[in-house]
Amino acid sequence: MSKDQIIIFDTTLRDGEQSPGASMNTKEKIQIATQLERLGVDVIEAGFAAASPGDFDAIHKIAQVVKNSTVCSLARALERDITEAAKAIEAAPKKRIHTFIATSPIHMEYKLKMTPEQVIKKAVEAVALAKSFVDDVEFSCEDAGRSDIGFLKEISDAVIEVGAKTINLPDTVGIRMPSEIADMISQMKAHIGERAIISVHNHNDLGLAVANSLEAIKNGARQVECTINGLGERAGNAALEEIVMALKVREDMFSDVETKINTKEIYPTSRMIATITGIEPQPNKAIVGKNAFAHESGIHQDGVLKHKQTYEIFSPEEIGLNKDDTLVLGKHSGRAAFKDKLEKLGFNLTKEQLDETFLRFKELADKKKDIYDDDLRALVTSNMTSIEKSFEIVALQLMDSTGGVPSAAVTIKKPDGTEVTDAGIGDGTIDAIFKTIDRITGHSGRLMDYKVKSVSKGKDALANVTVQVNFNQDEPAVIGHGLSIDTMLASARAYIGALNSYISMRGMLKKRGNSTSNII
Ligand code: KIV
Ligand code: ZN
Repeated sequence: MSKDQIIIFDTTLRDGEQSPGASMNTKEKIQIATQLERLGVDVIEAGFAAASPGDFDAIHKIAQVVKNSTVCSLARALERDITEAAKAIEAAPKKRIHTFIATSPIHMEYKLKMTPEQVIKKAVEAVALAKSFVDDVEFSCEDAGRSDIGFLKEISDAVIEVGAKTINLPDTVGIRMPSEIADMISQMKAHIGERAIISVHNHNDLGLAVANSLEAIKNGARQVECTINGLGERAGNAALEEIVMALKVREDMFSDVETKINTKEIYPTSRMIATITGIEPQPNKAIVGKNAFAHESGIHQDGVLKHKQTYEIFSPEEIGLNKDDTLVLGKHSGRAAFKDKLEKLGFNLTKEQLDETFLRFKELADKKKDIYDDDLRALVTSNMTSIEKSFEIVALQLMDSTGGVPSAAVTIKKPDGTEVTDAGIGDGTIDAIFKTIDRITGHSGRLMDYKVKSVSKGKDALANVTVQVNFNQDEPAVIGHGLSIDTMLASARAYIGALNSYISMRGMLKKRGNSTSNII
């Protein structure tokens, strides 16, 4: 029996980026899009082109590099949003515009202040305009979960008539139970038939996003919108890895459908997203959490040793997690072995990227005894995604603060190539470092968030620091990452990274003569 394909629509770069503190720079987004393509997702929602010049730039660049997956931009049902989306995805071999308008009584009355008739008219105009740019147009009934089913049928008929190929029915506020989703999807499937693909987009406010997506598939949905690690607005979206593995492990329940996902790329993709956003999945998170394969109790350990499947419903290798991941490369290891290892981890670097990463690997191997896969992933990711370095940390020296005043001496290379050293004091060591950086660079930042995470294990583990800094109160805060065995140096690098991101964002704005407002 031939199986129906479930279209995996990944929105990590759009809805996922709407998670508080998850904003990513263009290079990071390109790196993620390339990995999503390797994972085998069918559609990559690369952003919301009209939201900001940064979003436009990232989608535009992703459209130039992604070849096998469809590249999609979100657009409200507005002329400017749709033309910006069309421009941003132009270069992609496979492209889609995803336009939406709210259809629930509460959204139409209070948010849009429009009648249902006006909403249908706007939706039809938007789809028709999108269709003049691309063949593949998706229409979303925002807040479908709280919309009248009769109205959903009416608006779907109208947009299918002008060319919408996918009708997405989001549970925008995550309020629906699986039985209610089943009912909505089966009614919509009976009404729409083969005229369009039915899609779902479930939010996780009641922890039901994955269950609801699976129920939708059982009742005729053939596209699911989801994110890696379940990132997304508020409590997040349905997690891609959970949907895909549920379909695979419970093939007996889903024997008529399949996905094109290469499950061995799930773990590497999850690690890349966590490293770049600084948002770690909770330890007990299904599939990719740190404890997902940890057997703590004696009874469980005994069972697993006797027969793995006593307590393991699938093997870590199936998602690309190699538990025995110590790298036996040391400072004397050659480039070929290093390159081979990176390829096994899914990284294909250009010659320049390989040269630079190899150098950083050697520096690390000098200081750190055991190097794990996660260390390498962090090293490569930080090298490949760092934006143009306007400022660079050259040296950092800290004075002993025990009982005294915390102070730091910092040397920074400026954009004109000169090196400047200065020293300062603060309320703590980090405060002293950041204040000194502010003085040297002439930019004053307000620290909104600071996170430190050890990349792998051991006392000599690499520290990955993520900061969120606001350099101008009228503009959005920016994120910076820093990696080092020394947590203070990692913090200084993260802060300078955020400043470089801010400068690059300002440069982009100047070029486009635009503002940074985020409009979802
Ligand atoms: O949650 C939602 O309704 C959305 C739409 C824009 C698809 O993200
Ligand atoms: Zn959403």
